[in-house]
Amino acid sequence: MIVETKDLTRLYHLGSSRITAVYKANLKIEEGGIVSIVGPSGSGKTTLLNLIGLNDKPTSGEIFFRDRKTSSIPDKERRKIRLRDMGFIFQTFNLLPTLTALENVELPMALLGIPQETQRTQAVERLKSVGLAERLEHKPRELSNGERQRVAIARALANNPSLILADEPTGELDSETGQEIIDLLLNLSKKETTTVIVATHDERVAKVSQVKLSIKDGEITN
Ligand SMILES: Nc1ncnc2c1ncn2[C@@H]1O[C@H](COP(=O)(O)OP(=O)(O)O)[C@@H](O)[C@H]1O
Ligand SMILES: [Mg+2]
Repeated sequence: MIVETKDLTRLYHLGSSRITAVYKANLKIEEGGIVSIVGPSGSGKTTLLNLIGLNDKPTSGEIFFRDRKTSSIPDKERRKIRLRDMGFIFQTFNLLPTLTALENVELPMALLGIPQETQRTQAVERLKSVGLAERLEHKPRELSNGERQRVAIARALANNPSLILADEPTGELDSETGQEIIDLLLNLSKKETTTVIVATHDERVAKVSQVKLSIKDGEITN
């Protein structure tokens, strides 16, 4: 089991109103393959991914990462787990605009203190694996959306994580480019010992996933 949640709940307080973004989610996510989380806008997908990605803390309930109770992990170590064991892919890519493709992919390795030379060779390798060998020195603005998302995937893979969290990764892409990104995610979930959790509206993503979770008003319905 890579991720387990117990009665995971996240409320937001806005003024006097209380929003239940995720309510009592009980998940058991096995290692390997793709898990999709499908639900309408506002149903709690991003909140759930942020919690699983240790980027947010629950209001109540618990998240276990590899059987480890995450609420008792100090913040510094949570950051380290995020860097070393997790990779993140976003709808709008979130690349750093002033860095080249290569530098964007090197960044998570730099933050882990990996030697510069190794960073470079690994980053080149990662970018090659997503078909971007010819785009190493391009800045994000010099790339197409599909290429940007490929850089983001290479960056997510930088430290060879066991868990990839993707939040609507095909949301900004045309249908053909979206399919290429789905194929990449699928390959990666097959080849490496990687678990991919993807929040999506895209039925094609849901179709290739081994486990399909539905979420509505913060509640997992299957
Ligand atoms: N930072 C926040 N503060 C207050 N409410 C929020 C915040 N983030 C999300 N929400 C609310 O929580 C609910 C779930 O949001 P979200 O997880 O972003 O859903 P999804 O990703 O499925 O669109 C929505 O009603 C949203 O408006
Ligand atoms: Mg969202």
